[in-house]
Amino acid sequence: MSGVFDRGEGHEQVVFCHDPRTGLRAIIAIYSTALGPALGGTRFFPYPDEDAALTDVLQLAKAMAYKNALAGLDLGGGKAVIIGDPQRDKSEALLRAYGRFVASLGGRYVTACDVGTYVEDMDVIARECRWVTGRSPVDGGAGDSSILTALGVFQGMRASAKWLWDSPSLRGRRVGIAGVGKVGRHLVEHLLAEGAEIVVADVSPTAVAAVRAAHPEVDVVADTEELIGADIDIYAPCAMGGALDEHTVTGLKASVVCGAANNQLAHPGVERLLLERGILYAPDYLVNAGGVIQVDDERHGFVFDRARAKTERIFDTTLAVFAAAERDAVPPAVAADRIAEQRMADVGALTRIWLP
Ligand SMILES: NC(=O)c1ccc[n+]([C@@H]2O[C@H](COP(=O)([O-])OP(=O)(O)OC[C@H]3O[C@@H](n4cnc5c(N)ncnc54)[C@H](O)[C@@H]3O)[C@@H](O)[C@H]2O)c1
Repeated sequence: MSGVFDRGEGHEQVVFCHDPRTGLRAIIAIYSTALGPALGGTRFFPYPDEDAALTDVLQLAKAMAYKNALAGLDLGGGKAVIIGDPQRDKSEALLRAYGRFVASLGGRYVTACDVGTYVEDMDVIARECRWVTGRSPVDGGAGDSSILTALGVFQGMRASAKWLWDSPSLRGRRVGIAGVGKVGRHLVEHLLAEGAEIVVADVSPTAVAAVRAAHPEVDVVADTEELIGADIDIYAPCAMGGALDEHTVTGLKASVVCGAANNQLAHPGVERLLLERGILYAPDYLVNAGGVIQVDDERHGFVFDRARAKTERIFDTTLAVFAAAERDAVPPAVAADRIAEQRMADVGALTRIWLP
């Protein structure tokens, strides 16, 4: 029988938090603190069972370590999940109980928003705990992280254009965006300002209507399936994870995939299929790091211009990943992982140099 130790992939610490009175059942996973405190959001989700919650939090924590390392931040990687329906089970007492468990880790884990948690929830957690980012501006926080997330994705697209077409300009390029929620909507604005053409798909008629009302020149197709088969230069998955599988990659007409969604590769092997089909893939956790760059900045007293400047560096990092991929003859997703691992190993080992 495999135990919790075997379930992780070298995770440092996994903490189960239980408070029967408030109904809190949470798991905090710290993958690595090699580069600093493990920062990652809290997902509030009605997992079918504890096992599903544990699997998810372990994967998410590892992904955060890689994202933070590649973004050049002095942060390790972690994540937390609260098991429950956020609509039904969320309460002040539960969030504050959770905050006390986060506090008990003494700063080894720093939390933020994720699916099912919002800036106002972070404000509540912060009443019990110092190690909270993603708070509202009135509470000293940086607010909506989708603004810089979209900027980072835009920079990833410009870098992809530079690599493939020798110019970062997206003027006249046709970009297909799947999901025009918080990030997708801001991305539309960057692209229109750049002179790109845009076609979108979203399961929510409200989301589509909001984009069309602001920008009537944006084209709309019925669904993601139609978008994948459309005549586009760049495909931007900005909805859910698992957006890229055999079916999608085989049907895709775009030359570039660059979008905000987390965990776009449905399973290992898809990154190679993209390479074989000649589609340039800008790794998801590289280009969508603007949000974590923003919340990291909040730890030092949020300065928007500083966070924006750091996010703009995603352009250079994307080009560096493509260059490493070409040099080592591996897909960009593999090159990104290697660079992140190298930084965790090299910078993480600096504590061997004793400082008085
Ligand atoms: N918000 C951030 O700062 C941030 C940071 C990093 C990564 N991400 C990732 O980016 C993605 C988008 O985040 P968001 O904050 O814009 O979320 P959001 O919930 O505001 O928007 C997602 C949009 O996708 C649409 N959608 C859902 N399923 C769809 C489908 N099958 N086809 C087409 N559209 C679909 C929804 O209707 C919604 O409009 C998520 O995967 C998120 O994890 C977000």
